[in-house]
Amino acid sequence: MMPPASLIVAFERLLGPAGLLTDPHDTAPFATDWRGLYHGRTAIVLRPATTAEVVECVRLAAAARVPLVPQGGNTSMVGGAVPAEDGSEIVLSLCRLDRVRAIDPLDLTVTLEAGVTLKAAQDRAAAAGLWLPLSISSEGTADIGGVLATNAGGNNTLRFGNARERVLGLEVVLADGSLWNGLRRLRKDNTGYALRQLFVGSEGTLGIITAAVLRLEPAPAERAAAFVGLPSAEAALALLARLQRHDAAALIAFEYMSAAGLELVLTHIAATRLPLARPAPHYALIELAGSRPGAGLGPGLEAALAAALEEGEIIDAALASSEAQRTAFWRLREEHSEAQKLAGASVKNDISVPVPAIPDLLRRAAAAAHALVPGVRVAPFGHLGDGNIHFNLIQPEGASSESFLAQGEPLMEAVNEVVLSLDGSFSAEHGIGRLKPPMLARFRSPTEVSLLRRIKTALDPEGLLNPGKLLPMIRP
Ligand code: MLT
Ligand code: ZN
Repeated sequence: MMPPASLIVAFERLLGPAGLLTDPHDTAPFATDWRGLYHGRTAIVLRPATTAEVVECVRLAAAARVPLVPQGGNTSMVGGAVPAEDGSEIVLSLCRLDRVRAIDPLDLTVTLEAGVTLKAAQDRAAAAGLWLPLSISSEGTADIGGVLATNAGGNNTLRFGNARERVLGLEVVLADGSLWNGLRRLRKDNTGYALRQLFVGSEGTLGIITAAVLRLEPAPAERAAAFVGLPSAEAALALLARLQRHDAAALIAFEYMSAAGLELVLTHIAATRLPLARPAPHYALIELAGSRPGAGLGPGLEAALAAALEEGEIIDAALASSEAQRTAFWRLREEHSEAQKLAGASVKNDISVPVPAIPDLLRRAAAAAHALVPGVRVAPFGHLGDGNIHFNLIQPEGASSESFLAQGEPLMEAVNEVVLSLDGSFSAEHGIGRLKPPMLARFRSPTEVSLLRRIKTALDPEGLLNPGKLLPMIRP
């Protein structure tokens, strides 16, 4: 059922012309996800510019019992921010809440609104001589509200944890339109349930994050990055352990790329090239950073890699000798998703296992995928240091996208069986969204699913916030 016309009129009165979109041409991009998996409909896109306006929007929607779909940069990999196809839900975009409210170099905190992009937040911190060590491939578009609502992980989790580890305080609009001001910036505040952590990773199903206080770090004084070729996945683990022994405090990233994954980047992304003398079956991008000037991170990394070469843990290595080269290394890693999109339809498995199980995972999941779809292109990559691999499968060359995507579910199931046998997770960092609720029952006990459901019911009894995401939809 479409939202009542009287509600649309009330929104128009509240937000004015700049605060909403009604032309189907304008609303369409907000109803489709980045991957193009879902094509929903929304009669209107709400674009409030202040927390007070978000409060009013939620109140109006709640009174009319119309569900809202909160949306940030719309970069979800699991359809977490798209409305339903029947047009019954309304998208509420947080993009106009884009102010940095305060930054405190002594306290090492930033207070910012949900619509600030992650990249803008990083830049703002850097301008104050500080560092927001949260980095994901979509950071230019993804915004803080979405990053927190999905507890994004990314490239520096190894050293600094997931998004939730950055959060000291939150401001949240609840399902009935009341406002919880939890914008505290305390390191120690042992006063009951950690409410803010309930909303982090709730994927917009419990409340709408409008602002946050995040912990920052002093800006790094030195960085060192290397791109290495590896003979095997086991060698990658040996190298990771070596670098942790070498300098665990400075090791901020250990990213994995398969030969097949890198090949797609080199083929589809302009101005990219392999920075090594010869290709290898596996690659890693390693980065060290620290705030102590003169720490000698570069020479230290070089010495550790020389020892690794001696032990046969790596085949070849290139150290970034300039900022431009460091950026070029990261481009090879960060353009993986884009390159895979250009190569055809893909089935994404954002999975994690205990780090020592990664070689087993790569072998067994590849065999399972090949057995189901001969010729499938297996292009795993990701955050090896966190045990998180994006075990992405791309359609066989020349095959039709439709017939390949029809195999999506069995392929994800086959990979997940391997993950389950290795005590892993079916969603390491992308969340559950609309794609993965059916997987919950296979991976989680009835007790755990019931706990999730009880929390949802307690905070959103009418089921008005992002229905059908995270938990399977219950139709009244
Ligand atoms: C990344 O780390 O680049 C993403 O999480 C990507 C993906 O699964 O495609
Ligand atoms: Zn990732």
